[in-house]
Amino acid sequence: MTTVIDGNAVASDLRDRLTGRIDDLATEGVTPTLATVLMSDDPASETYVSMKQSDCEEVGIATRDVEIDPDAPAERLFDTLDDLNSDPEVDGVLVQMPTPDQVADSEVIRRLDPMKDVDGFHPENVGLLVRGDPRYKPCTPHGVQHLLDHAGVETEGADVVIVGRSNIVGKPLANMLLQKTAGGNATVTVCHSRTDDLAAHTGRADIVVAAAGVPELVDGSMLAEDSVVIDVGVNRVETEDGSTLVGDVAFDSASELASAITPVPGGVGPMTRAMLLYNTVKAAHLRRD
Ligand code: GUN
Repeated sequence: MTTVIDGNAVASDLRDRLTGRIDDLATEGVTPTLATVLMSDDPASETYVSMKQSDCEEVGIATRDVEIDPDAPAERLFDTLDDLNSDPEVDGVLVQMPTPDQVADSEVIRRLDPMKDVDGFHPENVGLLVRGDPRYKPCTPHGVQHLLDHAGVETEGADVVIVGRSNIVGKPLANMLLQKTAGGNATVTVCHSRTDDLAAHTGRADIVVAAAGVPELVDGSMLAEDSVVIDVGVNRVETEDGSTLVGDVAFDSASELASAITPVPGGVGPMTRAMLLYNTVKAAHLRRD
């Protein structure tokens, strides 16, 4: 029997727990506050930001909604970040990526106050994570780790194959799974577009995490029996009657082999959103400790 891991349910549990912590903060007169910054007219980015805002509202996190003309010079964004960095009411700042061509993402990340970097992308936060002393775990890998824990999947001693080497998912997740802590102690392989024989790696893994951004890249023929499969992909593909969302895993064939698998949608996606709330509450605590 294959277990389909319900990311919506796990995320909902986490949100309930966060609501309790936010209520406690409220008794001290503190309302965690997240600023979102959007410098794009891409409809997908607009949707992501408005979902993040409504997630915050639902649990009692206050929001600032900053929109910057995508044609404005980079300085406009940097000035905004300087203001948010020094604003005592703002706990976390999230700049929706990608930013326009005239603004280098890496400069944006470095401009943020690392204490307010709830994405966990600032080099200081990346360094802390790699050293095994994380301040903010990036939201998607943190969501993956939480889902594995919740599903009772032991990572200690497990062979984990991550497909994808992005700064947002593959690289931080590999570091997290390597740590000598609960949810870590795995033997980790990171595969990518230049990997010679992907199936040879995935086929011997206890846990496969697909995060390459390639629709249905991993199918059942590439998996070991009873492996655990975590699908981070969110790919919009055209169909005869419109378009649909598919992951990086071919769900039907993979479910025939896997002991547990996440669906798309309803797997990792809701966890990523919940972990942003988690980091924002953590930011509110850290600034007052
Ligand atoms: N764009 C795509 N994913 C992300 C993310 O995790 N954080 C931010 N800030 N932008 C994104």
